[in-house]
Order: sequence, then structure tokens, then C-alpha cells
Amino acid sequence: MIATQIRTEKVQQSRVDSVDWNNLPFGKIFSDHMFLSDYKDGEWTNDRIVPFGHFTIHPASMVLHYGQAIFEGMKASKLNDGTPVLLSPIEHAKRINASARRMMMAEFPEERFVEAVSQLVALDKDWIPPAEGSALYLRPYMYATDEFIGVRPSETYTFCIFTAPVGPYYAKPVRLLVEQHYVRAVPGGTGEAKAAGNYAASLRPAFEAQQKGFDQVVWMGGPNMTQIQEVGTMNIFFVIDGEVITPATDGAILKGITRKNFITILRDQGYKVTERVIEIDEIVEAYDAGKLQEMFGAGTAAVVSHVAELQYQDKLMTLPAVEDRKVGPMLKKYIDGLRSGAVEDKFGWLVKL
Ligand SMILES: Cc1ncc(COP(=O)(O)O)c(C=O)c1O
Repeated sequence: MIATQIRTEKVQQSRVDSVDWNNLPFGKIFSDHMFLSDYKDGEWTNDRIVPFGHFTIHPASMVLHYGQAIFEGMKASKLNDGTPVLLSPIEHAKRINASARRMMMAEFPEERFVEAVSQLVALDKDWIPPAEGSALYLRPYMYATDEFIGVRPSETYTFCIFTAPVGPYYAKPVRLLVEQHYVRAVPGGTGEAKAAGNYAASLRPAFEAQQKGFDQVVWMGGPNMTQIQEVGTMNIFFVIDGEVITPATDGAILKGITRKNFITILRDQGYKVTERVIEIDEIVEAYDAGKLQEMFGAGTAAVVSHVAELQYQDKLMTLPAVEDRKVGPMLKKYIDGLRSGAVEDKFGWLVKL
């Protein structure tokens, strides 16, 4: 339900007719409008929806030097009857505020976040791609705008939401390298926040893994770098002898919304799901005993990314073919079905626009 209409300046001419829906590159096409709000004097003001376009930015803007920048990634889709829907938007609103607290940035009221996303998506609903598995990707983010040299929290911020239609994500099973030199995050660090700098810091290890022929790294932590954290920009799940296990969020791991939804779905279906510390040695042992049935990444972009191979030091582990897996494919089908209306929204995660 729309509370108050956000001040909206519409484009004169939509660009939607120029989109080739059968050829959507990820993250390169942007829809007609964006939402903006400015934080100053202790409050968010001037909420508005305007034509998508460039910003001007002051060279001393604090974000450019000290990196106070956080973001979210979420999706809107259409049910089979054409109704636009958002999946778990309040969770994203809460998470961006958790990130804001960690980075000493201004929190954006959660109801207002959902309202802004809802009105923006409703206005650009023709940009939601029709095919199942495709979506309108939403990118809410916030950055520091004080024009100042010196390390302290900014007193002004810009909050922006723009959207990008994305095609179905046919992720082919990935080859992963267990990374024991570089670290993504430690408890007490910033890994639990969706802070821009975390992603910059991940580029060198990802590059080096790719040079060695892998798609991504498995991030490790713990005193001896033997505890599994995440994979690339996804949370990680294993199926061992019918039990689903995933690392407990310990302050270093991003609290994925897909991860949380997966745990709920799996427990509802009677699976045993355990969140705990996972040592790489147990994965090797399970593999050697023929009990490692599945390994997959979980995140908004791909939903499920199956792992084909895992390299740990000089041991290469090859996982069963995707056709022989149950859990990962079921979860992918469930979330895609929820987004298209084929699966009932029994947990009340969808917001219809
Ligand atoms: C580091 C990291 N881990 C996990 C995830 C998965 O989170 P979600 O399921 O909320 O997309 C993301 C993506 O947001 C991420 O960037």
C-alpha cells in the first residue's frame, strides 16, 4: 500500500522499447528512473524519483577518499498474472541499516526504504523482464558526501536506488579454490556489512584464482585459516549424508537473505540444517568417505551456484553431477517459482505492488 506519493519527475520518453529482452547483459542496462534522498542536519530530506542520470561529485567528497559506501542487491519480478513483486524487501532495508551502523553512516528508515523501492519499481514495472528466472535487479546504495579532507564520519550522505533488468542467470557449475593466504573478513571486521571496500579487497584474490584456472575463491577464517566462510559473493552450503550444513554467521560472514530463506525452506521440508563452524578437513573427510553430496553458493544474483570442483592445497575434489543433486536444484526452483507465482508464498516473503 502506498503511504505518500514520492515527488516524481518522469522521463519524457521511456527507453524501454529499445531493450532486447532476449539479450540482457548483467548490470549494463539501466531503467528510466532512480530514487534519491539527501541526508543533512541529522535527517533524510528531499525524497524524489527522477530520470536516471549522472551525478556531479565534489573532488573532496569523503566517499572518494575514505570509502564510506554501502549497498544492497535485491530483485523485483512479475507473477504470472503480471503483478510486480519484491522478495524480502524489509530484510534488505534492515541489512543496509546494519551496514550503516558499522560504517558510521546514517540509517534510512526501513518503511521508507520499502516505500521508495515499491514506488520506483511500480513506476518502471515495464522494465521487469518477462522470462522466469529473469528479474529487475535493484541497487540501493549510500555514500558519504561531505566535502572534507580528514578521517571522521561524514555528516551528509546521498541514498540512491536504481534498477537494471537482468536475464535468467544460467550459472554453470563453478571450480573453486580454497584461499588460505588472503582473507575476506575476520570477526570484528567489516565482513558482515555490505561495504564497498570489502568488494575492492576481494578483487586481487579472485584475479589470482582465475589466473590459476578457477572461477572463484572459498574464503577462509579462524586462527589457522581452516574454517570455511563464504564463496565469492555468496554464502555457502554443503549437503553431507543428507544433512545440510552452512557456516554460522560469526561477525565475518555476510548475513545473506537467500541463506536465511533457504534455511527456512529446508527446515519446513524436514531437512536437518545445521549452522556451525565448518572445518575444511571435515569436508575432505566427507568427500573421501563418499558422503559429500552437494556444495553450492547462495545469493540474490544466481540464487544457487553449484560447485563442480573444489581445490584444497593439492587435493582436487570433484562433486556429483548437478543432475544427481536434490537440495540445490530444489531451492533454485523454489525461489524462481516464488518470484513467478508458481510456488505459494507460505512464509509471506513477497510484497505485491
Ligand atoms: C559477500 C556476500 N556474501 C553473501 C551474499 C548473498 O547475500 P544475499 O542472499 O542477501 O544476496 C552476498 C550478496 O549480497 C555477498 O556480497
